[in-house]
Amino acid sequence: MAALAAAAVLFPIALPAQQDKPWLDTHRSPDVRAALAIGAMTLSEKLGLLHGLMALPNPVPGSESVELPPEAIPAAGYVPGVPRLGIPALYETDASLGVTNPRGARPGDVATALPAALALASTFDPRIAYAAGALVGREARSKGFNVLLGGGMNLARDPRNGRNFEYLGEDPWLAGVMASASVRGTQDQRVISTVKHFALNANETNRWTLDARIDEAALRESDLLAFEIAIERGRPGAVMCAYNKVNGVYSCGNSWLLNDVLKHDWGYRGWVMSDWGAVHAADYALQGLDQESGEQLDGSVWFGTPLAIEVAQGQVPMARIDDMVHRILRSMFAVGIAGSAAETPIDYKSHSTVALDIARQGIVLLKNAGNILPVNTGLRRIAVIGGHADVGVLSGGGSSQVTPSNGSVVRITAEGNGTAARSPSEIYFPSSPLDAIRTAAPGTEVLYGSGATPADAAALASRADIAIVFVGRHEMEGHDSPNLELPDGQNALIESVAGANARTVVVLETGNPVSMPWLPRVAGVLAAWYPGQEGGRAIADILFGSVNPSGRLPMTFPIDDGETVRPILPNLGAASGAEVAIDYGEGADVGYRWYAKEGRVPLFAFGYGQSYTRFEYDRFQAAIGAELTVSFRVRNVGNRKGADVPQVYLTSAHGTAALRLLAFQKIALRPGEARSVRLSVDRRLLVEYDAARHQWAAPAGAYQLSLRRSALATAGEATATVRY
Ligand code: BGC
Repeated sequence: MAALAAAAVLFPIALPAQQDKPWLDTHRSPDVRAALAIGAMTLSEKLGLLHGLMALPNPVPGSESVELPPEAIPAAGYVPGVPRLGIPALYETDASLGVTNPRGARPGDVATALPAALALASTFDPRIAYAAGALVGREARSKGFNVLLGGGMNLARDPRNGRNFEYLGEDPWLAGVMASASVRGTQDQRVISTVKHFALNANETNRWTLDARIDEAALRESDLLAFEIAIERGRPGAVMCAYNKVNGVYSCGNSWLLNDVLKHDWGYRGWVMSDWGAVHAADYALQGLDQESGEQLDGSVWFGTPLAIEVAQGQVPMARIDDMVHRILRSMFAVGIAGSAAETPIDYKSHSTVALDIARQGIVLLKNAGNILPVNTGLRRIAVIGGHADVGVLSGGGSSQVTPSNGSVVRITAEGNGTAARSPSEIYFPSSPLDAIRTAAPGTEVLYGSGATPADAAALASRADIAIVFVGRHEMEGHDSPNLELPDGQNALIESVAGANARTVVVLETGNPVSMPWLPRVAGVLAAWYPGQEGGRAIADILFGSVNPSGRLPMTFPIDDGETVRPILPNLGAASGAEVAIDYGEGADVGYRWYAKEGRVPLFAFGYGQSYTRFEYDRFQAAIGAELTVSFRVRNVGNRKGADVPQVYLTSAHGTAALRLLAFQKIALRPGEARSVRLSVDRRLLVEYDAARHQWAAPAGAYQLSLRRSALATAGEATATVRY
């Protein structure tokens, strides 16, 4: 690919440092190198690094097409470098589910399409998150990119948010730990990773105008804490600010968010890049934004001429321009993005085994009445119904949509109007669950029915020993789902199949929780999320038990919309572009915390997931020294090997009931095997943020802890009391 060859020439930093370019000397610290480079730069070279293009020929559909610089790789973003000084351009690509190829702008280019980030979060395993980040980083680098717009991690406050599938669930510790691991994985490949979208981009409806309102302490203890943890542990080179406003001020021009919290309080040393089309004024430079991305999408190239004028007039001091440039260069040097120009070809075969592994470990077994699963391979006839299971598995839409490496996708155009019309095409990755089931059950007759008519589906199901119904809900960036229901009559389909065959198993392919009015009438349920390009096989592996399910829910599954914090989707039906607001009145009590506080029992709790074996816990203790540590023992008391995720929660703080995940560990055990685990607890999860004093406060008192199987499972675990 010509673009890639051109990109490689622009990566000269790996060459031995030339004496006249001391900033290329990798023995010096990133800060020293950045300062040396800045000393050699002209003002226009500095300003040139502060804004970048959306690297697509026609970024705003319908507008005049823009000639891209020949060296730009068609993708999300391109920021020219300073070749005179050996400073490379930034080649930016989406995202954490794989390297995307927006609008097929790089004809024929494919990438490993990983499962949804929610599936990754369901693994509760930071090692897998690291492997995912490393895989995407490797592919990005091999394609000539040096910035991955990964690290999506907004907390799931609303189970109808169209982008939850790109994020890591509802808990700040889980999201922070998993995001940091994936950032490290990517940056170890010498590709800068972002974390995004900073902050509180928790709904997509009118995200360009949405004012996300919340109390400061609550924000610090929830969404901001997730970012704080991810940034401390992952050290992302860049933070992408969000489209929405936070408490009345646009995120990318929000001095409190960017200057006070991120840069001052947390000491963040990388740069803040805008989301694409999220800049509304040149003076965002003073509010903490360091770089304008996708400039064609903004009303003006604010960090081009308008910023230059503000600098010339002294409104934006040179010191601030130098700070902006310093932050960008520092991250380039710290991550070492300008690696070897000779990139090895991508080993898609081995990468697809990583995609398979994530999918297998991210699938959550929600119901298994009478041990209907794993499916007995000696059956006479299996009916597989619906969900386009004959062609592949569903994926989520928007900027994270990957073109998979394992074959052509199948596009299914939604018909109808209203919500159906919003998702012009659902994309199925070519990993057919039907084929995988046939392979897993060679001696069994496997029948397939599309599920188009419930009566035909019931007739098919009645002839089989077991019926496996595939259902899905397409979610995409830019849109929230209007409610929690499975669309297109799929609830009726399940009801009629379950009516015809009591041995019915439902496989969900969704980017969010869905309501399950049919739950009492089916025997088994799997949440497979969007399982990525090896998803069909992963689902069959779980159904037939060659892999023991170990996924745990990273989001609460509510009973229905009425049982959610906002029973009606906020701003449902608002005109596009209308100013809208949401009061996130639940504050820091996101997800399971809100259910606990309200005393509501959800359909399935955060942290919940079944296994084909059983685990028992004992010896739970908490000890307070320099930090709080918890320890316990886990034993596999069943007869299959499997992995468990014991979870430690705070259940009350100095007499007040509270529920917060403090620690978790994924542990694989053979039958009969036991393992002792010791974990330390981040103090900020226990205590509260005192906004008036700008610090975490720890009122003296007793903290009650509980070892659990999920946020709600009271399987007789021990509790321990500690004094801080
Ligand atoms: C999305 C970002 C993405 C960017 C570039 C935006 O619309 O919100 O997540 O990285 O586009 O494609």
